[in-house]
Amino acid sequence: MIKPVNGFSKLSKQQKIDWLAENYLSNTPEAVTILQNYWNTDESLQKLHDEFIENTISNYYLPFGIAPNFKINDRLYAIPMAIEESSVVAAASKAAKFWGERGGFKAEVLNMTKIGQVHFMFKGRKENLHRFFEENRQKLNDAVAPITRNMEKRGGGILDLDLIDKTSDLQNYYQLFVKFDTRDSMGANFINSCLEKFAEVLRNQARATDYFSEEEKQLEIVMSILSNYVPECIVRAEVSCPVDQLSDNPEIQGKDFAEKFIQAIRIAEIEPYRAVTHNKGIMNGIDAVVLATGNDFRAVEAGIHAHASRNGKYTSLTHAKVENGIFHFWMEIPLALGTVGGLTSLHPLVKLALNMLQDPSAEELMKITAVAGLAQNFAAVKSLTTTGIQQGHMKMHLMNILNQQKATEDEKQQMITYFTKNTITHSGVIEQLERIRG
Ligand code: MEV
Repeated sequence: MIKPVNGFSKLSKQQKIDWLAENYLSNTPEAVTILQNYWNTDESLQKLHDEFIENTISNYYLPFGIAPNFKINDRLYAIPMAIEESSVVAAASKAAKFWGERGGFKAEVLNMTKIGQVHFMFKGRKENLHRFFEENRQKLNDAVAPITRNMEKRGGGILDLDLIDKTSDLQNYYQLFVKFDTRDSMGANFINSCLEKFAEVLRNQARATDYFSEEEKQLEIVMSILSNYVPECIVRAEVSCPVDQLSDNPEIQGKDFAEKFIQAIRIAEIEPYRAVTHNKGIMNGIDAVVLATGNDFRAVEAGIHAHASRNGKYTSLTHAKVENGIFHFWMEIPLALGTVGGLTSLHPLVKLALNMLQDPSAEELMKITAVAGLAQNFAAVKSLTTTGIQQGHMKMHLMNILNQQKATEDEKQQMITYFTKNTITHSGVIEQLERIRG
């Protein structure tokens, strides 16, 4: 029987692996070899990765691909994408080429404000709390001055500090609601440090306020943390072209393409089951860039899905219309990204990803990332409303199946030739491979 382990984090990497092999992997040498095969031969690079997280025993690779030819605001980019799903990079590249021939993508950052909150409980007179907050506003700002000094030098800092009464939702619950400009950093550490300092001042000043009752003096801090919901950190990405230039298939007229495409978008706007899958396709593009550039995709996901349901019903992130003969397709999403701090200067591949994007500011990276999401959605909805997605998907999938089956280069060539004329299905591929292998 497996027993709980004590002091696991103190064990060496090899001891951790031995423990794992003994307790969970039946001591199979192959399991240990798999872990070791993913170690980097460059020891200092491996050490760097070991230290990103705790209890590291190996590395988990994701393919790192490139989608070239992205024309964004008249500048050409090759976009790095880290993703395991086949077809995503191909779809992005296709959409980039398609829109590159039609004027390219336009992107604009509408605002870049981040949010943080100190959540606290106060039992007492509201007017006393408001007076206390106003009297201590300066003290609160002074207390964070050592933390904000550097950010202010870079043009950022604290934009606004408010007391919010949430007692109608939860008894005795109030917030300090703080707005931040974190410039090119995602700003999580900066925001959380400021908030914890605010919380300390709030708590200590409450204890020392002479017009507070004993109960009021017990103002209780619950937690201090940034919000990953950033409705004032919005980027807009869009494409447009005359409807008659919209189709690249001689068998489909631009206006018919537009009509069906817009129908698909309307369905995602009103139908949550479809909206979730529709938005998942957008996130294929966004997450891949967010990951490649060392940003926090969980934060981005949480914030974007909150935005997609901001009116009480989950809906499409993208929208489309035809106006005066012009097809418009656009998206506005919250996106808090950083190009300094965090992994950006630590992880060599992340650094390289940012280099190939010409070392963008956070604002530029927001635009590039949103465009990758819009492109992905365009490609998905285009396929879905014309050929269906399986055709493209299965072509990419063919290679995955062949690799899983350890097909030789010669077998791969024969299979590719065979499946240019035959429908690709998982079972079909396996059967044909068996036939080739006799
Ligand atoms: C697959 O990863 C993404 C799609 O399902 C997106 C969509 O349906 O719009 C193709």
